[in-house]
Amino acid sequence: MRERILNLLYQRKKKYVSGEELSRKLGISRTAIWKHIQTLKGEGYKIVSQKRLGYSLISVPDLLLPYEIERGLKTKILGKRIYHFREIGSTNDFAIELVRKGIEEGAIVVAETQAKGKGRLGREWSSPFGGLWLSIILKPKILPTQAPRMTVIAALGVAKTIRKLYSLKALIKWPNDVLIRSKVGTIRANGRMRKKGSRVFKKVCGILTEMSAEQDTVNYVVIGIGANLNIDIKKFPIEFRKNTTSIEKELSHKIDRVEFTKRTLEEIENFYLLFKKRGFAPILKEWKKISATLGKGIKAVSGRRIIEGKAIDIDSDGALIIETKEGKQEKILAGDVTLITR
Ligand code: BTN
Repeated sequence: MRERILNLLYQRKKKYVSGEELSRKLGISRTAIWKHIQTLKGEGYKIVSQKRLGYSLISVPDLLLPYEIERGLKTKILGKRIYHFREIGSTNDFAIELVRKGIEEGAIVVAETQAKGKGRLGREWSSPFGGLWLSIILKPKILPTQAPRMTVIAALGVAKTIRKLYSLKALIKWPNDVLIRSKVGTIRANGRMRKKGSRVFKKVCGILTEMSAEQDTVNYVVIGIGANLNIDIKKFPIEFRKNTTSIEKELSHKIDRVEFTKRTLEEIENFYLLFKKRGFAPILKEWKKISATLGKGIKAVSGRRIIEGKAIDIDSDGALIIETKEGKQEKILAGDVTLITR
């Protein structure tokens, strides 16, 4: 009901809609309307009321509220159920709880901050206010070994959103970090001397995919997306700052986080549907086009293996193929990559 009240107020934003009209259109009493308006105000909506004129929506809160994400969202699956928290431990943990209780594919969990955000390889993920901390539940019919494909689909969706909305050059560092070519203000970056004003790649988004699977089927996949949107980099631990950026930092202004969230869900869903229809080949093709890794000198750490060489290909499983100095080809399925040449 509150969503419907908001929609009517939105249609005449900054003008008045009478309590009587709302009551008539929605089929509830004026007292009930008043109560919903109080709740919306409590959630941060600025709504003024004037005796004979009614209610007027002045501004919406800077929050990723379900009403805001749902309005005009062009998806069929993603975001059909939205769980929103001002603060949570980890959106991935909550999504896993939901899916164990039988929630359907496409449900999402968003939080304004996370107290125990999880990164890849058991790392912590710093999640201050201003980012997008999002988990998406999917139930694809794939083999457990193919689960990394879902991460690729998510990384592509995020990178495309950044490119389309802000014209920033977003690239994907294998396996799934989204980077932006960022202008450096200092002459020292990533431990190397650089000319003032030159560009380096910095991480703007990380993805952590968790899944449950049987021998040959995946029960569910939870894709956790952490995107630095309106964040002052100084809020991050000092050791991450030099390799991390945010959309706000790159554009020198804040963005509409709700718009970013909607577009990301739409882009991810498009790639997901493409994958269901045509398989992984078209996804791989898109991924290669915006890879920050291919053709570069890299150092890869995969379990105990450390491999240095040139990243020459990504195969149909999503594994990275590296050519070493000795001319040998090595393949890694998971791990961490550092770019040596850019
Ligand atoms: C990485 O290490 O690069 C992956 C970071 C993933 C962070 C996101 S934020 C939303 C979701 N919930 C979590 O606890 N982690 C993921």
